[in-house]
Amino acid sequence: CGIVGYIGNQDAKEVLLQGLEKLEYRGYDSAGLAVINQGDVQIFKEKGRIADLRRVVNQKILSCIGIGHTRWATHGKPSTKNAHPHQCNIGRFTIVHNGVIENYEQLKHRYLSEVHLKSDTDTEIIVQMISEFSKYTDTEEAFIKTLELLKGSYAIALLDKEDEETIYVAKNKSPLLIGIGDTFNVIASDAMATIQLTDQYVEIMDEEVVILKRDKVIIKRLNGEIIKRDSYRAELDTKDIDKGTYPHFMLKEIEEQPFVLRNIIQKYMDENGELTIDKNILNSMNDTDRIYIIAAGSSYHAGLIGKQYIEKVSKVQVEVHISSEFAYNTPLLSERPFFIFISQSGETADSRSVLVNIKKLGYPSLTITNVPGSTLSRECDYTLLLHAGPEIAVASTKAYTAQVAVLAILAEVTARSKKIQVNFDLIQELSLVANTMEVLCNCKDTYVNIAQKFFSTTRNAFFIGRGMDYYVGLEGALKLKEISYIQAEGFAGGELKHGTIALIEEGTPIVALSTQEGINLSIRGNVKEVVARGANPCIISLKGLEQDGDTFTIPEVHEFLTPIVSVIPLQLISYYAALHRDCDVDKPRNLAKSVTVE
Ligand code: G6P
Repeated sequence: CGIVGYIGNQDAKEVLLQGLEKLEYRGYDSAGLAVINQGDVQIFKEKGRIADLRRVVNQKILSCIGIGHTRWATHGKPSTKNAHPHQCNIGRFTIVHNGVIENYEQLKHRYLSEVHLKSDTDTEIIVQMISEFSKYTDTEEAFIKTLELLKGSYAIALLDKEDEETIYVAKNKSPLLIGIGDTFNVIASDAMATIQLTDQYVEIMDEEVVILKRDKVIIKRLNGEIIKRDSYRAELDTKDIDKGTYPHFMLKEIEEQPFVLRNIIQKYMDENGELTIDKNILNSMNDTDRIYIIAAGSSYHAGLIGKQYIEKVSKVQVEVHISSEFAYNTPLLSERPFFIFISQSGETADSRSVLVNIKKLGYPSLTITNVPGSTLSRECDYTLLLHAGPEIAVASTKAYTAQVAVLAILAEVTARSKKIQVNFDLIQELSLVANTMEVLCNCKDTYVNIAQKFFSTTRNAFFIGRGMDYYVGLEGALKLKEISYIQAEGFAGGELKHGTIALIEEGTPIVALSTQEGINLSIRGNVKEVVARGANPCIISLKGLEQDGDTFTIPEVHEFLTPIVSVIPLQLISYYAALHRDCDVDKPRNLAKSVTVE
């Protein structure tokens, strides 16, 4: 979910609507906003997108204070009733909330047994409790008293109808920033929402409360202690968050990949033209006896490839874990673990919960993220940035290839620091990869045809590969299912026949990746097995390994780096498949780009 709040001299509803449009990637099943105008609170909510909300907001209302929310449903299905803001029964307090209150049932029974609740959300509990406590004390104290009782994650903005000069704000685990202006102040889940108003931001830490006025920001701990904190400049270019002439962010971001890769090479190169990584990170890489990569979604797939790089090039053992599993089912750790979190957003709650736990145990950590200043970046010991520019489309493309590239650089520089011989020039090889990416981005007609031939009507599809190709296949399947709703699954080439082959019917598409010399023939054997049962094979091979009848051949790059290029046809085929099936490419149903709940 995404939150925005404004207090100043401008028309608050317009600031909120524009901010919510920028936050829509965090959830888009319903949205709402509240403004106060001469002691009157006006709330507008709508199921669906911000464009739907815009249609129901009364354009005549003028107000200089307000809060807004775009939702990704957790408690309660998407509906106007469950959309935020929520209000207490006497109408005095209005709230927006991102996160999950774990003990909301207990709180409901303990404090609100007499109160009629209007929604199915955990959020309403918060505002009703504030209202109950305010019978005996002032708003700030009622707010803090409520916060002290909450278990779980929250980013909250609260309006008090009787005070048009204040927004009350609090945060625990969920992201929230304060934006500082000359005659106004804002809050936002992400600086992207308000960057057109200000580039000055102040972090809020967990269990802090902020009293936001138009000319003042007071940050306090829950115990009342006042905290001084300097602002920082958010380096975000408004151009980067614009689609420009592209029909979709996803297509723009796919096409940006060669540029991103060249940018990464520049950013990681020192004045002698050598790739370089912060010495402290290298020390941790050298001291550890085992690396634990923690990630979710596409970032997890990048981690699987990163393991190959780090083990093969820098000779350190690596385990890759899905963050939500690791959090509850922690494996036996080695003596000197080093944790690498991979996260485009740097906000994924599942990953963060692992970080919180391993920090308690005192283990060192690195985050590889696209968002400087994100929660994981702030809370890990070290950060490596992806330098990919904002990724807006929900399906990750350029951040994924950037993650793989940065992991390759990390592996190579670590190896050199350990005096392990690396027998290829990574800068040169990555530059060739960037050129090849460009070539691949220019084969659109072919992808349109492949999408039409294999994916225009199918219900399911399987991706197979071995080794690195298997991991790329997992990512290809994820792209296809995320945006086209085809049930797509990736399998290790040899594994499909141990069960899933039962699903193969006449015409079932099988995408097979064959880009590695040693195992080229084995994967072709697996293709024959499924073709014998009626499958329709889409074979993507590497130049030099191609055979008659292959569907698409990618130019050769260094074998280690093939995953960075072989994913591009898969991204673009998925894109055109989704277009063909009339799906909302940038905002697929039920998903959110940044999942800030566990
Ligand atoms: C969500 C997104 C995925 C993403 C995953 C991990 O599920 O829809 O595209 O890969 O989160 O996100 P992160 O920001 O941690 O890389």
